Amino acid sequence: MPGPGRFEIIPIPGEPGGVALRRDGLYLCAEADGRVTLSREQIGAWEIFRLQLLDPVALPAGAAQGAEGEKSEAPRKTVRPLVIDRLWRGSDPFADFPAERYETDTQGWGSQHRYLTDAIDAFSPRVVVEIGVWKGASTMTMARRMKERSLDGVVIAVDTWLGSYDHWVSDEWRASLRFEHGYPALFGTFMANIVKSGLTEYVVPLPLDSINAAHVLRHFGIRADVIHIDGGHEYEAVSGDLQVWWELLKPGGVLIGDDYDRGGSWPGVRRAFDEFFNALGLFPFEHEGGKCRILKPA
Ligand SMILES: C[S@@+](CC[C@H](N)C(=O)[O-])C[C@H]1O[C@@H](n2cnc3c(N)ncnc32)[C@H](O)[C@@H]1O
Repeated sequence: MPGPGRFEIIPIPGEPGGVALRRDGLYLCAEADGRVTLSREQIGAWEIFRLQLLDPVALPAGAAQGAEGEKSEAPRKTVRPLVIDRLWRGSDPFADFPAERYETDTQGWGSQHRYLTDAIDAFSPRVVVEIGVWKGASTMTMARRMKERSLDGVVIAVDTWLGSYDHWVSDEWRASLRFEHGYPALFGTFMANIVKSGLTEYVVPLPLDSINAAHVLRHFGIRADVIHIDGGHEYEAVSGDLQVWWELLKPGGVLIGDDYDRGGSWPGVRRAFDEFFNALGLFPFEHEGGKCRILKPA
């Protein structure tokens, strides 16, 4: 951000009280990670602010945070409301979700891996993106850790909730998709799990395929501190995921990949990771118990 200076206040037609703030041809933008940047050349939903004159006398008791000797209340969450605003136009998908209609089923694969909780502990992330959510087991591992640490952050859960090819061809996993008139109801299982585990304040679902989801986040200026890639496990799927999601990882952030087994059952995953990070000069990288992790240079 440049130093102090004058902003031009531009009223927004059709948005009572809404203004954009412009300086040197750039508009102020409220980023999803809580920062305010002077970065955009056009006005979108995230460049619209509401100005408010604060009268300190009128502030409710305890509102003046940080005063010495004062007991602070639970920290205010800023990231999730912003993400809900951007991705869901302010309408929370968990609101009034009928969780009781779904059986609790939190089966997953490697969903408690220490790389997931390590990432939360080490990065105190504001934005985590998981690609490949299934019933939500790994999402819950990360979201629960964020809740335990009272972080102001969110896991954006990206999945079509339509399953991968390997789920469609196995009788066992096909049953988990819970077809209703030819269409999977897996999304309901995921939503109910998040509601029942009390983690809705740390999760935002994004029911899209990985590539479209990446474009949506880029469009809304959302970048991730931590990314967990566990979507399609074929070579083409993993290569595509790495290409779009690495770009959306903040410098200094970490990308975790699932089913990276040298000599294991997913050779396409290994090949895609090895090729991608070889080309970036970041090979070899750490891996353990089926997951790998790579830090993005700051
Ligand atoms: C192995 S499961 C994820 C497991 C989950 N992370 C856990 O720990 O239980 C893979 C998921 O990726 C999703 N998926 C596959 N291809 C996808 C794509 N192109 N975009 C979004 N999701 C995809 C499937 O619907 C499935 O739910």
